[in-house]
Amino acid sequence: MTTNILTADNLVTANGLQKRYQSSAGPVAALEGIDLAIHAGEMVALVGPTGSGKTTLLALLAGLEQPDQGLVTLLGQRLDELNSDRVADLRSQTVGVIYQNYNLFPGFTVRENIGLPLRLMLRPPFDANARADQLLKELEISDLSSRYPNELSGGQQQLVAVARALAANPPLILADEPTANLDSNAARQIVARLRALADSGKHGVILATHDLRTASQADRVLNLRDGRIVKETVLQPGRATRDVLAELA
Ligand SMILES: Nc1ncnc2c1ncn2[C@@H]1O[C@H](COP(=O)(O)OP(=O)(O)O)[C@@H](O)[C@H]1O
Ligand SMILES: [Mg+2]
Repeated sequence: MTTNILTADNLVTANGLQKRYQSSAGPVAALEGIDLAIHAGEMVALVGPTGSGKTTLLALLAGLEQPDQGLVTLLGQRLDELNSDRVADLRSQTVGVIYQNYNLFPGFTVRENIGLPLRLMLRPPFDANARADQLLKELEISDLSSRYPNELSGGQQQLVAVARALAANPPLILADEPTANLDSNAARQIVARLRALADSGKHGVILATHDLRTASQADRVLNLRDGRIVKETVLQPGRATRDVLAELA
């Protein structure tokens, strides 16, 4: 796959990414040469067995870890040219991350959880609350505003996590197995939200998933095996899910 890292409208690019971890049993190759690029309006699914490198790839794209070889750009900026504080700043403005386990803060209400990224950017509480209220309304969960995470279903917690990921209005959304702990209805709802973010044209979404139904909603599906992209499937919109699942199987 060839990727032009200078294409300005790419939200994130990866070129030749390699990553090894040290384990007690010796070095483990997590990524063995990954190239990808995504622009706003697209949803890309990463699928592959446990250990194939999905989480590692998302961590490198977010600048949470550094590659041993290769380059990541976020909105055209090479991450290797920035120190860790500037990478953190760039990430907070450009990337929203959603995790399998929601990762909400138990001592904060839903509204406070959603406003947290803005508070961490030192925005005044008034702004953070106003943004949280706006997102609660958009996601149709305003009635949950004053609850604590342990008073919510898994699907509700994940909607709150989606709202929190959107608080700073980042163009890139990275979701690591966002539906893995959800029943099929809640999973459908979350995927529909992520799909709508891409369809708005304002966001690009990369999601790692085991679930082919989730992957079937993407524009492109990348199959990872042993740290490599072994297959890329471009999905035409409007096809029957059944046919897409047959193609991905
Ligand atoms: N912190 C770590 N230390 C050692 N090995 C790791 C670490 N993180 C991931 N790995 C290894 O890297 C490979 C890719 O893992 P990961 O990216 O978590 O895959 P996936 O998300 O697809 O399950 C696996 O072999 C895993 O054991
Ligand atoms: Mg993983």
